[in-house]
Amino acid sequence: MATPLPHGVLLAFEGIDGSGKSTQARMFADWAELEGLEVVRTREPTQGPWGRKIREARFTARLSPEDELAAFIADRKEHVETLVRPALARGALVIIDRYYYSTVAYQGARGLDPQALLEMNRAFAPKPDLVLLVDADPKLCLQRIHARGEGQDLFENLEALTKVRAIFLSLVEPHVAVIDGGRSAEVVFDEVRARILAGPLQGLT
Ligand code: ADP
Ligand code: TYD
Repeated sequence: MATPLPHGVLLAFEGIDGSGKSTQARMFADWAELEGLEVVRTREPTQGPWGRKIREARFTARLSPEDELAAFIADRKEHVETLVRPALARGALVIIDRYYYSTVAYQGARGLDPQALLEMNRAFAPKPDLVLLVDADPKLCLQRIHARGEGQDLFENLEALTKVRAIFLSLVEPHVAVIDGGRSAEVVFDEVRARILAGPLQGLT
């Protein structure tokens, strides 16, 4: 039987595509489950109707920045109400792969105002106890993406990811840990785990 925490804890993994955040989220979730915690793993965009619409638009016509924003917000509202808040309320450790910092960085890179995006999200979405911002050079991230066989337009992506990364790095606050994702997954994980155990899960081990 998994152990609930005295109160729910929300960890958000963020970073540009290919930074290794999904790998780290998975490694930490596996570790926490072995420790006997009740872990809820989730991601945005979700597998719900809005998430599906967002993914489909990638392969057809790209949505305008405003329509894209509306879809990500609708997806997040549903996700927060149906899954994230109930899990936190029963004391689970919620590990989310992408959250509202991605909206600020990606929709911000498409020209929307990052500060307004942050405020709009904070009005309805619970603030994470810790954000693990996995940061890496966009060139390295694109090499990793290409290595896994997802060919994309290199130059267009390099420019866009460079903008997205700069906005992510401008979001640093005390509850945001910037982790150098340019190292091996094991070395990155040692730091991820140490930051979480020194922060929201202090006293656990
Ligand atoms: P993201 O979720 O940020 O897009 P992934 O975790 O899916 O990134 O990793 C992208 C690719 O890079 C995957 O093929 C993964 O196996 C690999 N990868 C992840 N972390 C590292 C790392 N630290 N060093 C080298 N390759 C990595
Ligand atoms: P996804 O299929 O989850 O890709 P990845 O494995 O790289 O995370 O698609 C996520 C894409 O959507 C990614 O390019 C970032 C983007 N995104 C936004 O633009 N805004 C958002 O609010 C979120 C959550 C994601």
